[in-house]
Amino acid sequence: VITHEWRGPVSNAELSALHAAAFGLPPREHDWRAQLDGHSLGGVCARDGGGLAGFVNVAWDGASHAFVLDTIVATRLRHRGAGTRLVAIATRQARAAGCAWLHVDFEAELGPFHWDSCGFHPTTGGLIAL
Ligand SMILES: CC(C)(COP(=O)(O)OP(=O)(O)OC[C@H]1O[C@@H](n2cnc3c(N)ncnc32)[C@H](O)[C@@H]1OP(=O)(O)O)[C@@H](O)C(=O)NCCC(=O)NCCS
Repeated sequence: VITHEWRGPVSNAELSALHAAAFGLPPREHDWRAQLDGHSLGGVCARDGGGLAGFVNVAWDGASHAFVLDTIVATRLRHRGAGTRLVAIATRQARAAGCAWLHVDFEAELGPFHWDSCGFHPTTGGLIAL
């Protein structure tokens, strides 16, 4: 059984382990909680019998723009709809908070996930590496 929870309790250790596994990197110490508590509208947790299995962070500008950052699903759960559900909950909660726009950017190969499954519309955008 997979459960999804908006603003569900999640620890720094769980988030570090999920990020490291998803991106094939060694776990690093990072205060995800401070980042979420200080700068995000919220996050969505997906859990299964093995613990935290997915997460998405919804950052925002405090008004009408929200931003989906780092949607992650553990490899053991991929292609079972968990990622789509994370983003669907993020979308619903951003709308409920009064946001008018939900933004995302991603590598080209993730187009089918964001456009076809999650319902984002293609748009022009830009990015500067700082
Ligand atoms: C991208 C990611 C979150 C998708 O999670 P998921 O739970 O497997 O997604 P879903 O099961 O909801 O996928 C629904 C559909 O989206 C598309 N899709 C999913 N992952 C995809 C990928 N990696 N590449 C291209 N299309 C993808 C497929 O059409 C999929 O349908 P299918 O399972 O019938 O093939 C997951 O692969 C992941 O964590 N990747 C590593 C982290 C990452 O790159 N995140 C992106 C933001 S930084």
